[in-house]
Amino acid sequence: MAAVAPIRLADYTPWAFQLPVIELNVDVQSNHVVVSSRLELTPQSAGAPLLLRGVDLTIESLAIDDVPLEPSEWSYREGLLTINKTPAQPFVLATRCRIDPYNNSSLEGLYASCGLLSTQCEAEGFRRISLHPDRPDVLSQWRVRIEAPRGSCPVLLSNGNPIGTEAVGTDRHAVTWDDPFPKPSYLFALVAGDLREIRDRYTTSSGRDVALRLHVEAGDEAFTAHAMASLKRSMAWDESVYNLEYDLDEYNIVAVRHFNMGAMENKSLNIFNSKLVLADAETATDAELERIESVIAHEYFHNWSGNRITCRDWFQLSLKEGLTVFRDQSFTADLHSESVKRIEDVSMLRNTQFREDAGPTAHPVKPAEYQAIDNFYTTTIYEKGAELIRMLHTLLGETRFMRGMATYVSRFDGTAATTEDFVQAIADGACADGQPLGFDLAKFRQWYHQAGTPHLEVKRSWDDALGQMTVQMKQSTSATPGQPEKQPLVLPLAMALVGPEGRVGDEALVVMDGDTMTTTLQGQPNSPAPALSFLRRFSAPLIVQMDQSLQENLQLFSADDDPFSRWDAGQRLARQVLLARAQGGCDQAVEAALIEAMQQRITAGQATDRADLAALLSLPGMAELEALQSPVDPLALYDAMRSWTAELGRQLQVPLRQVLSVVRHDWPLAWPAGQGGRALTGLAWRWLAAAGDEEVRREALQAVSGSSMTLARSALRALQPLEVEERDQALACFYDRWQNKPVILDAWFALEASAPRLNGLERVQQLLEHPRFDPLAPNSLRAVLGGFTANVTTFHAVDGSGYRFMAEQVAAVDARNPITASRMAKVFSRCGSYGPERQRVMREAINLLASYPLSANTAEVVQLLNP
Ligand code: TRP
Ligand code: ZN
Repeated sequence: MAAVAPIRLADYTPWAFQLPVIELNVDVQSNHVVVSSRLELTPQSAGAPLLLRGVDLTIESLAIDDVPLEPSEWSYREGLLTINKTPAQPFVLATRCRIDPYNNSSLEGLYASCGLLSTQCEAEGFRRISLHPDRPDVLSQWRVRIEAPRGSCPVLLSNGNPIGTEAVGTDRHAVTWDDPFPKPSYLFALVAGDLREIRDRYTTSSGRDVALRLHVEAGDEAFTAHAMASLKRSMAWDESVYNLEYDLDEYNIVAVRHFNMGAMENKSLNIFNSKLVLADAETATDAELERIESVIAHEYFHNWSGNRITCRDWFQLSLKEGLTVFRDQSFTADLHSESVKRIEDVSMLRNTQFREDAGPTAHPVKPAEYQAIDNFYTTTIYEKGAELIRMLHTLLGETRFMRGMATYVSRFDGTAATTEDFVQAIADGACADGQPLGFDLAKFRQWYHQAGTPHLEVKRSWDDALGQMTVQMKQSTSATPGQPEKQPLVLPLAMALVGPEGRVGDEALVVMDGDTMTTTLQGQPNSPAPALSFLRRFSAPLIVQMDQSLQENLQLFSADDDPFSRWDAGQRLARQVLLARAQGGCDQAVEAALIEAMQQRITAGQATDRADLAALLSLPGMAELEALQSPVDPLALYDAMRSWTAELGRQLQVPLRQVLSVVRHDWPLAWPAGQGGRALTGLAWRWLAAAGDEEVRREALQAVSGSSMTLARSALRALQPLEVEERDQALACFYDRWQNKPVILDAWFALEASAPRLNGLERVQQLLEHPRFDPLAPNSLRAVLGGFTANVTTFHAVDGSGYRFMAEQVAAVDARNPITASRMAKVFSRCGSYGPERQRVMREAINLLASYPLSANTAEVVQLLNP
């Protein structure tokens, strides 16, 4: 494998030219596309050679100031066009290239999907469309003319405002778009095809009338109301909370079946994976509806945090992504339940980001170097990045944080900024009230540069006479690849004392920034030691190590006034139970006490806070458990999960049945109403079905043909782990009903691929050959291969057959779609945590993958796995 020279943050230099204006002409033909460009270039220093990026382009002509360049005046190799001699004064470079979107399976640049031409330019896709510096700090005003056959491409879209349409001959037409806001090439977008439009309007707070246009394939019009309503809610929220308004006369969203990620925030022309647009209660689950709402919001919020203020270079990726995730998390919390959202987000962080931070692909929120930037669209950049913004918010409070945001926006609007710029602007804006910042900014900045999850060791002692708890804390972060030494970080730690009746005294926000710290909390003198409610709301992304008794956890579980901390106490007990079971034992005292506490919560909570109750009772994820076991035995953990679920179903049968009879009334309520009741239904079905409840199996089977997708999928999830007749009937029924809806059928592919079966591997091979399986759709690949890697018994077979199979599949995908393949290759990053036998066979699979001719993207991941 050829090692690619890494790109380093330390090597950043501005580009040698400015490019204030770009004109593009895109000529769509039936078997190729011709892209002509006119770049207005201003040299920043005399005589600099002009270097432009271009990948898979056939260059037809180049001219400077209308004078064609001779072949001797330029070279084009390895993705780089070099023109050595350029005028010292501003000049115009005209280029004409031919591209082939019809055979582009990478889904980067311009590509065809189901007859539709669409683009994906982030991060470095524009170089597959036209010659360009293709770096985010080069901002231009763009004018784009698209010419195409009227029949196959009645709809022609690009960024900004349409400023003209033309008829070209009898069967062709052209539309010209003008975007007044300077933007980098990664935000360019173009769509040409036959789409149906759903239109709505939104009036901004200052009175701008915005046309909202959603574009979908014919037949999908009926499934757009949720996305449209979500967009309007997002626009209103950003105005009322951040005082940020939309800035153009139209906002377009296009749904595309073949898409590498979730969605893309191109200026005024968002392109979405169709699974994140098309939905209603019958075709999408409550969780999917909430996800769609949050991704619509995410892309909309990028208009300010990403587009109006963009990134200087790709090392700053979290500048826009961390901030925008923080914004979309706050949006969902405001619209729904703050506590449930926090629990979901922390659970996801622990099961994905903590794992990444502890493995061979660990990297800082601001990496110092990379080979393929696509590999850095990670949970660390996104979710840990959002946690850093959240900590700033916690440290400063809402008012000061928002003043900081206003400073950031006014200072950097229209520019390409850095994370340092952001942190400084937040600090300056916050301190405009004349008060000190309240924490060490230099030490806070370390969070951006240091990989790994900090561990915080906590010890307490209780002074009965004074009624004081002394809390001693010590922070440390383990070495990560390339970072042996770690610095102490600024940790905002929210804590309180909790007695049997609830919180005692106020919550304290303790800011720690050294290796160790001691603090005291005031409680009631001459009373039994209260429980310590620590890291309330998960005020910092770290792992707490503290000896807490069963009694203390139970007290927090039932009496803490912070719903997050209640949940967290339950999670600690559940992890204890599951790990003991996985080691072949059983912690009977903990099990009995936890079940009793759960029973009490179920009885008390079913009448009112059903969504809270469902969140409170949720079980820890596999990844979290694996992090606590050494060496990891995935099969033992999986069995522990199964046996504990069955135990819960047996022991809690009476209250769970009682719950089912009550929450039934929530079933028909339209989202977001009724979601708590439906979540409890799913949980009760899962546990009762695992305990062998035949009535529940029948009820679940019926729900698969009912009118709620949430209940149908909950039913499938409850039946899926069981090798019973109803499972296969339910899967077959779901397939029959939805076989013509690819977005929905992907859920079936995932369930089939992950269902425990004796012939699991064979089943997965059949799925890859299935007539409804689309090997060019990343959604389908993720469903089947992602489902397969979640199929613990099959993927982790001790003979290594599952790992080998996965290596072959990743190599096959890599030949067509490197972005999707390299993300999949990361399943092998857990290798080092397994026992010697499993490690050996997984290592063999990694070597097998390495033996294929791999893309730069996948080669980089494999190299990290094989240090
Ligand atoms: N900027 C997009 C977002 O988070 C991410 C994205 C969409 C992306 N498509 C991509 C990143 C393709 C890399 C490659 O909203
Ligand atoms: Zn984003």
